[in-house]
Amino acid sequence: MITTDVLIVGSGPAGGAASLFLSTYGIDNIVLTRYGWTANTPRAHITNQRTVELMRDMGIEDQITGKGTAHHLMGQTAFCTSLAGEEIGRIRTWGTHPRRLADYTEASPTLPIDLPQTLFEPILVSTAASRGAKVRFNTEYLSLEQDDDGVTATVRDRLSGETYQIRAKYLIGADGGRSKVAQDIGLPMAGSMDIEGSMNIVFEADLSKYVAHRPSVLYWVLQPGAQIGGIGAGLIRMVRPWNEWLIVWGYDITQPAPVVDEAMATEIVHNLVGDNTIDVKLKGTSVWSVNHMYAEKASSGRVFCMGDAIHRHPPSNGLGSNTSIQDAYNLAWKLAHVLKGQASPDLLKTYDDERTPIAQQIVDRANKSRTQFGQIFKALGMTPDAPEGRTIDSRKDDTPEGIAQREELRAAIELKDYEFNAHGVELGQRYRSSAVVTDGTPEPPYERDAELYYHPTTWPGARIPHAWLSGHEGTVSTLDVVGKGRFTLLTGIGGEAWVKAAQSVAEQLGVPIEPFVIGPGRELEDLYGDWSRAREIPDRGCLLVRPDAHIAFRASELPADPTETLQQAVSQLLGR
Ligand code: FDA
Repeated sequence: MITTDVLIVGSGPAGGAASLFLSTYGIDNIVLTRYGWTANTPRAHITNQRTVELMRDMGIEDQITGKGTAHHLMGQTAFCTSLAGEEIGRIRTWGTHPRRLADYTEASPTLPIDLPQTLFEPILVSTAASRGAKVRFNTEYLSLEQDDDGVTATVRDRLSGETYQIRAKYLIGADGGRSKVAQDIGLPMAGSMDIEGSMNIVFEADLSKYVAHRPSVLYWVLQPGAQIGGIGAGLIRMVRPWNEWLIVWGYDITQPAPVVDEAMATEIVHNLVGDNTIDVKLKGTSVWSVNHMYAEKASSGRVFCMGDAIHRHPPSNGLGSNTSIQDAYNLAWKLAHVLKGQASPDLLKTYDDERTPIAQQIVDRANKSRTQFGQIFKALGMTPDAPEGRTIDSRKDDTPEGIAQREELRAAIELKDYEFNAHGVELGQRYRSSAVVTDGTPEPPYERDAELYYHPTTWPGARIPHAWLSGHEGTVSTLDVVGKGRFTLLTGIGGEAWVKAAQSVAEQLGVPIEPFVIGPGRELEDLYGDWSRAREIPDRGCLLVRPDAHIAFRASELPADPTETLQQAVSQLLGR
């Protein structure tokens, strides 16, 4: 029988990333997909800062930024009657507004990029393979059985038809929104599937003349009928600037799904572009449905689900593939520590505690964003509850109604910040579980809107704030110092006893902990003073940071016996 430590079902963003992280941490894994290659349609594209940070930790940030469309081309998002038609409003998205750009660049060493799934997945899977993952294409997962020591999966080679078994210590179900693994282990799901109908039309056409002056990844089309089904409005999405595109258009889910043939697709393209003379080269069409569903539990025994298998929602906010990759990052270091004998299997239970609240949060957020388009349609007089006499043209009137309508439209467009500039949702995840040792301080309050703004803190459970430091290798982010599959301890001048403590705890427990002193004349210097402002502890305090860059433990002073204090903390969070 074929054996491995971790069998990963699915090579999408979740499975591909899980394989990359585990392979990088030296964990034997097999990743399988029922198809002959990775994603064949662009699907996810918004790649948020947290995901770019994870790729930076994996040493492949340059690969993804090299393939993606740069941040400065992502943000002039237009609302229009068609691309060639009237423009109703514009919103600067993904942190491209000058004010928001400051928030984004202050918060991370990275910027968001636009990277279609068709280009991202091959990077994940091929880098994983180059680091030791065994990749099996055309291989379908059929069933699993688990016992106290492992999981036996039955799979089918779709080329030969042969059925065989793979024995693994753990299995990851990263098999998408219709996950058979989640079903087989009976994960409790909340919400409902198939609540709206949607179709994708991928095509090539040179649309430069309509978009080059307002470069963006998204152009929203507000026409009668555009609010039926789908993701809130008609969408023309850039796949490659400015000649490859994906249109998302809704259909009424209570009716049979339409057959989107070439004639229908071309008509929709011409209608949304507003120009039926453009040459359209159709690349493919598909229909899909909008879901509002999340898992209340993400694992059972030795089987862990991630990605769309545990959160199913529309693409609004661009959270699907990002969250899938971030799920994998959360689980991978835990599996690695357990498999290397450095942590108790109890550590794995914290995956559920930490990631299921996020599954619910993003499913709710994405669906709320979808419905919030309704405010714009109403402001344009396109809904039954709009004030009488209001039309798209009445917003141009010099009347009290015109003034009110213009104000309402501005507010409706601003509300879309919650979809397109939700920096707090993208970056502000804070974990609560036994893999975080609390320091007794209450959670710091959000000084600004928690969804729109990221609030940096070193409160245990939060991601370490980004600050630029100077070291032997030049300027590095705090995010560059941590990660790499191991724990990191950060202290300041006078906290050298923490360094010794880290070294002896690492030796006693056999768990790598890399200590750093940050301060003048030390290996890392805080020349800008940004770290001193962000760290929320004095020089002699310390932060213990998990391999996934979340704060595991924080001390505000040097105790009498730092080794004892640190050992207790590490033992607790690793369940030992
Ligand atoms: P995914 O579905 O991608 O992969 C599942 C994998 O499992 C595949 O490899 C499949 O072959 C395999 N599999 C399934 N069953 C199997 C079986 N029985 N045996 C073997 N293999 C099996 N997200 C985002 O973050 N930003 C964005 O901008 C967008 N935009 C976007 C636009 C559109 C139009 C759509 C439809 C979706 C998005 N998304 C998005 C969402 C994103 O595409 C989605 O969340 C991720 O693909 C989920 O990744 P997973 O790896 O979980 O599943």
